[in-house]
Amino acid sequence: MSFLIYMSNTFNKHTRVNSLTYFDDAEQASIYTAKQIAELIIEQQKQAKPAVLGLATGNTPKVVYQELIRLHQNEGLSFHNVISFNLDEYYPIGPEHIRSYTFFMREYLFKHIDIKPENIYIPHTVCSPDRIEDYCKYYEDRISSFGGLDLQLLGIGRNGHIGFNEPGSSFESTTRLVNLHSLTREDAHTDFGTIDKVPQQAISIGIHTITQAKKILLLALGEKKSEIISKALKGEISTQVPASILQTLSHVEYILDRDAAALIHE
Ligand code: GLP
Repeated sequence: MSFLIYMSNTFNKHTRVNSLTYFDDAEQASIYTAKQIAELIIEQQKQAKPAVLGLATGNTPKVVYQELIRLHQNEGLSFHNVISFNLDEYYPIGPEHIRSYTFFMREYLFKHIDIKPENIYIPHTVCSPDRIEDYCKYYEDRISSFGGLDLQLLGIGRNGHIGFNEPGSSFESTTRLVNLHSLTREDAHTDFGTIDKVPQQAISIGIHTITQAKKILLLALGEKKSEIISKALKGEISTQVPASILQTLSHVEYILDRDAAALIHE
């Protein structure tokens, strides 16, 4: 069962409205999210336009991608008009590294669908330090060249990060090299084996870049996210909780399962 609630952030100085949809379980929330993405792709196809997607990594979107693959394999959904930009990538890490987000995207989505390889953008993090700034500008320019992101899919870190925009990131930030927060590195340590193997840095698109997307879906699943979801949706808008900026935007939909939503009504 799903519930759609329009939230008015009356406890903040901002009074715009965004929406919250929550589901009994993570699978239903993920399938709903995939459906939203598929509908956008099809809508753009009808108008002979590209669908410019901002995509996320982590455990949260895995079932979303599984469902998109199912729609492609069983229901004829084509990705021929999709241009995708990933949010972030660890630095420095090669695209063949098993923990790179490039590897993740290939395994969990791209190799199973008909997206054109030349339409896939993921921050490339093997460039030398002196070239990073130019590279980040290039990444931003590529997004702009397609008219910006039609839809940005987001997860959320336990410290409120979106992409790798860690607490303290400016709301005006664009694509850049960032230092990873200790909680982010701790959460990634099981993937990498030990904490010292987790990269210290990443390239991430900025908060400004994210907020410019025409539609934003923030998906959060599980009890581990309940505390930060409550802060991000109901707390003060602060750079200390990067996702809190989304409260000010009308084109955001939070999609939660019951566990992630557990604390928002308290
Ligand atoms: C990583 C990614 C984020 C993601 C977050 C949450 O740090 N850079 O984009 O939202 O982790 O990960 P998970 O979905 O595994 O909880």
